[in-house]
Amino acid sequence: MDQKCPLPVAGPETGLTVLKGLARERSLLTALEIMRDEVGPAFQITLPGFQPAVLVGPESNRQIMVSRRDHFCWRGPSDPVTRLLRHGVLVEDGAQHDYLRAQMEPVLQRTQVVGHIAAMQTYTDRVMDGWGDGTVMDMLVEMRRLALLIFMGTLVDVEFGPDLERLWRPILRAIKYISPGLWIIWPDMPRFGYTKPLAQLDEYLFGLVRQRRQHVTEDQRGSGGLSKAPVAGDLLTQLVRAPGMSDDLIRDQILTMLIAGHDTSTALLAWTLHLLAEHPSVMTQAQSEVDRVVGRADLTLAHVDHLDYLDAVIKETMRLYPPIHIGNRFVAEDTTISGYDLQAGTRVMASIYLSHRDERYWDAPEVFHPARFGAEGERVPPFTYIPFGGGPRVCIGATFAQIEAKVVLARLLQQFTLTSDGRKVRPYMGATLEPHPGVFLRVRRRQHS
Ligand code: HEM
Repeated sequence: MDQKCPLPVAGPETGLTVLKGLARERSLLTALEIMRDEVGPAFQITLPGFQPAVLVGPESNRQIMVSRRDHFCWRGPSDPVTRLLRHGVLVEDGAQHDYLRAQMEPVLQRTQVVGHIAAMQTYTDRVMDGWGDGTVMDMLVEMRRLALLIFMGTLVDVEFGPDLERLWRPILRAIKYISPGLWIIWPDMPRFGYTKPLAQLDEYLFGLVRQRRQHVTEDQRGSGGLSKAPVAGDLLTQLVRAPGMSDDLIRDQILTMLIAGHDTSTALLAWTLHLLAEHPSVMTQAQSEVDRVVGRADLTLAHVDHLDYLDAVIKETMRLYPPIHIGNRFVAEDTTISGYDLQAGTRVMASIYLSHRDERYWDAPEVFHPARFGAEGERVPPFTYIPFGGGPRVCIGATFAQIEAKVVLARLLQQFTLTSDGRKVRPYMGATLEPHPGVFLRVRRRQHS
């Protein structure tokens, strides 16, 4: 039975701890780690205008994401994520959330996603073709380019190459708009430099919706007016065919998926390449596996399913640097989590980052050690490792993201050897947890005999 008590406060000197964290690693994550070490796995931050409850560990994760999820709602209307995504599945609650999710889920099932392996590889080749042998490339930029091409090419069925440069800045502005900032304590603060780029992005998205509607209508006329059964194809077609979806609502879903679906993959791919370059023995082992399983062939599903070591490398990367490092919620009605009272209106942050580095469950959590996800690896309680969240709001794109990461990384390792140029990288809390200032790697094309 729950024993009720208020959350311990992270001290009147919270502000000092934040400064300590910034001084040590120039990262707010370090500040959170210090608070966890000093106060424990559940605490309340007490900064002016910002008093979230931070909760760490499997029990609170499970309660927030599954057993007491109805006591929480996602975000308020003044939150920039809501302002940008409006009625996107990510920010809706209740029946509307479930309806939107049900429309998109079929497209993201494994049986559908594996049909995109060849396209994922083709886009990877296209991006790699732009790399001069022996040059230094910023993998944060390259992986974003690639993740955008893949997302749009496969899940929206649109060739994005011609629009990539034009929409690059609007997309980065959209990401900046929802990244943590002063708005957290001052929701109505004036924000400049967003109106034009966000309008440009909208214009593009509404154009896509109109074109696709026309296509689908022409298709239906061609089939004698009989509407086709909603078979899973791409997200946009699926949404255009779904009942009750206005252009606005479709725009909200496609923008949601575009942002959630590429910024996370960008971070995952860039972090993995960073860690591989920092750990040459892991890189060699991953490359040997690719050589043994795939050789010089094009990647197929059978290959993807047998790249076990690469799979462990990806999982370990998401443990150390989960692209979504916090599950954000608001308490909708007074509740209790892990024995602590939480009042309605409290902002709750389920720290995925701290759960993934919790010494109660992981051996040497700071160490990059892919073998912990191997067959003989560590066993941690459910909801300790949650890079994709859990429960009914678990990431809808988890299967897509994992297959994409394997295809892209296997292709890169097959074709290139990557070495660090020595620049220090630190985690930065943007919309996702990004490697900052970038991942600068020297790329050398492999000479296959
Ligand atoms: C490495 C890649 C990815 C990671 C680490 C990731 C992580 C997550 C996490 C942790 C959540 C749950 C957040 C919460 O409970 O507050 C989530 C939700 C979501 N993700 Fe992902 N994601 C990734 C890729 C993708 C992709 C590729 C897509 C789309 C194609 C996508 C679309 C979404 C959406 C729409 C939600 C909200 C689901 C809902 O509320 O029902 N994500 N993701």
